[in-house]
Amino acid sequence: MQVNTLILGAGAAGMMCAAHAGAGTLIVDHARAPGEKIRISGGGRCNFTNMHAGPENFLSGNPHFCKSALSRYTQWDFIDLVARHGIAYHEKTLGQLFCDGKSGQIIALLRAEMARAGADLWLQTTLAELTHDGSRFIATLDREGRRTTVTARHLVVATGGKSIPKMGATGLAYDIAAQFGHGLRETRPALVPLTFSDQRFAGLSGVSAPARVSNARAAFDESVLFTHRGLSGPAILQISSYWREGEDILIDLDPGGHLFETLRAQRQQEGRRKLTTELARHLPARLVEHLAPDLLPNGNLADQSDAALAEMVRNLREWRLRPTGSEGYRTAEVTLGGIDTAGLKSRSMMSQTLPNLFFIGEAVDVTGWLGGYNFQWAWSSGWAAGHAI
Ligand code: FDA
Repeated sequence: MQVNTLILGAGAAGMMCAAHAGAGTLIVDHARAPGEKIRISGGGRCNFTNMHAGPENFLSGNPHFCKSALSRYTQWDFIDLVARHGIAYHEKTLGQLFCDGKSGQIIALLRAEMARAGADLWLQTTLAELTHDGSRFIATLDREGRRTTVTARHLVVATGGKSIPKMGATGLAYDIAAQFGHGLRETRPALVPLTFSDQRFAGLSGVSAPARVSNARAAFDESVLFTHRGLSGPAILQISSYWREGEDILIDLDPGGHLFETLRAQRQQEGRRKLTTELARHLPARLVEHLAPDLLPNGNLADQSDAALAEMVRNLREWRLRPTGSEGYRTAEVTLGGIDTAGLKSRSMMSQTLPNLFFIGEAVDVTGWLGGYNFQWAWSSGWAAGHAI
């Protein structure tokens, strides 16, 4: 069987590409349904893009690489597409756009766009063998137990990263990249909860607090969630992409910076109130209890000098922790690193060395922050490749 374009992986990027790659497109996936990660994303409502998306929200060995695709197919283009399909959406916070209904609406949108473009979708299909004869790709596909040889002028690899193997993530994209001489940048689980060797936060499990979490490379003002295994919540997932084993993270529990002045004022009015009771009006009470033995002085507000209050607030603003690890690919939302962008053309996502070979989406060394950025990269890179074919 001959096709113009064979796309491996019917996830966000692959389906977007199939909708734009023109006639003679076949898209295959080993799963039973396309877009499974879209389905579970955003708590079932798919945070499909971010109104503030820009190159500064992405990590990559080459921070300039993502600029071309992101500027040619922007968040506004995708928002327009969502609106044209009559899908209602809302901003949750920080520019993050979610469906009002179910994330299945985004999958339906992509399926409709693929159907309009005439793309064929084969599910429960795996790649048994792949070669290139100098002008075409020859793929042996295993479709529900039957072998088919497909010859394609263009090959698009859109099989994603390693995160959540239980959902069918494989390293296929990296294997194909290596087969055709493309470099890989070290891969790591990212947007992932951080863990400790002990269960120090077990008693706080379920407590959440607004914070600024930072290290030498980045800082995020969002909430922190304490869990049995360690730390989670948006601020922790964000910093995990910038964290390495052996490093500390800093948690600022007074991100607004008003605590010292507030406590001083309260000391005037409510001097006989216990310091921890007062603090529990500004921080979750269970967290105050947890911090008290190490970081908080005893006594009433009136017992605290300015210097003592200042030191305590400093401790709360510079709570230094050294996680031992992360929950790994089992729960990571994305894979950091991947196919080296040095081997790809940023305008089209095409290989610099083998014409008509494309890599798109999460498989490539471009990783977004939490908040709809990763889907935007899937749409933009998928569109760029589809448009170039
Ligand atoms: P994606 O993983 O979507 O698709 C790859 C496809 O290839 C899959 O369909 C897979 O079955 C197929 N495949 C893999 N190996 C194969 C093989 N060997 N043979 C055949 N097929 C194969 N992002 C965001 O912006 N907003 C959000 O709300 C969320 N929420 C979220 C929640 C959770 C729990 C996770 C795990 C991730 C998110 N993300 C997210 C991240 C987002 O899901 C991710 O970045 C994109 O799905 C990446 O799109 P791709 O198309 O590159 O890969």
